[in-house]
Amino acid sequence: MRDVTLVRGDGIGPEVVTATMQVLEAAGAKLHWIEFKAGLNAVSEGKAVLPPDLLESFEHTGVCFKGPVTTPVGAGFSSVNVALRRRFELFANLRPVYNLPNVRSRFDNVDLVIVRENTEGLYSGLEHEVVPGVVESLKIATEKASTRIAKFAFDYASRLGRRKINVIHKANILKLSDGLFLRCARDVARNYPGVQFADTIVDNACMQLVMNPQQFDVLLLENLYGDIVSDLCAGLVGGLGLVAGANLGERHAMFEAVHGSAPDIAGKGIANPTAVMIAGEMMLRHLEQREAADRLRGALLAVYADGQHLTGDVGGKAGTEEFTKAVLSRLR
Ligand code: NAI
Ligand code: MG
Repeated sequence: MRDVTLVRGDGIGPEVVTATMQVLEAAGAKLHWIEFKAGLNAVSEGKAVLPPDLLESFEHTGVCFKGPVTTPVGAGFSSVNVALRRRFELFANLRPVYNLPNVRSRFDNVDLVIVRENTEGLYSGLEHEVVPGVVESLKIATEKASTRIAKFAFDYASRLGRRKINVIHKANILKLSDGLFLRCARDVARNYPGVQFADTIVDNACMQLVMNPQQFDVLLLENLYGDIVSDLCAGLVGGLGLVAGANLGERHAMFEAVHGSAPDIAGKGIANPTAVMIAGEMMLRHLEQREAADRLRGALLAVYADGQHLTGDVGGKAGTEEFTKAVLSRLR
């Protein structure tokens, strides 16, 4: 048994995480959950937004499985997700994006991986009002973090036989911050002659992605572009219900969907748990529980290949429960 810190989250979080926990168990995963609340759920019980016992547990287990946590817009507490990523230096956010069978989407044969810098950029949270009506938000870029994420991307590409890395930036305008990010990536690229290196300005990259996504392999982006382009890429293959991510540091790892708490569909029993299930698969691979990971993946692919129990977001008629039962039936 492997201890895992668990946060079910809020909105659709509990629905899709609970479904995934059943599937993980049926796949033969050896996990022992240690559960905590965070965000709104913690606050409503009189606790801190990010309770100290949760942090202590994650410090100790090194692995966190997390549902989406709502972040209030404009005011209120700052993001639990961003805080966890920064506190545990989960510097690399790895998000594979690929087609699944029977999912109506704009493109076939999309197979790309987003590598998002997870600790700085505009997500440093350094904002203040200079004078009424004028605010300042600081975008932080350091040579250390930019080099670290570039190395991660090139190591990942070499290890998995990926052919090309494309760094996405706006260094024509943000000459210093994005300029530094690009320069560090270029410097790192010299040590990896087996992996092609290219760079594309972010606005052009968005156009290229929605016209011809198959040209991309690994995308390397700073924090904000990585966040935005991740949702765009999810849209290429059928939406946010399908794409998961690993947040990786030197000693800690956190697995979650790319999507948020989806308040518009929360409590309706219609959310697609696939993204969180794929996050579960990624976690099993990280924990070297390969057999269970392969079984989970096989069951998911079989349900998509069959196409009879898919959720509404990908064109089916099933709810969360029917979809989950279909996956479970392939595992038992
Ligand atoms: P969202 O990702 O929650 O939802 C965007 C759209 O996609 C909605 O129409 C939603 O119904 C749909 N969608 C998302 N996941 C789905 C699923 N599994 N199945 C079917 N449809 C799905 O983005 P939104 O609405 O901008 O954010 C809601 C809240 O989530 C915000 O408070 C935001 O801060 C938070 N959030 C949290 C994240 C995290 O915990 N890592 C990540 C992204 C957002
Ligand atoms: Mg996002």
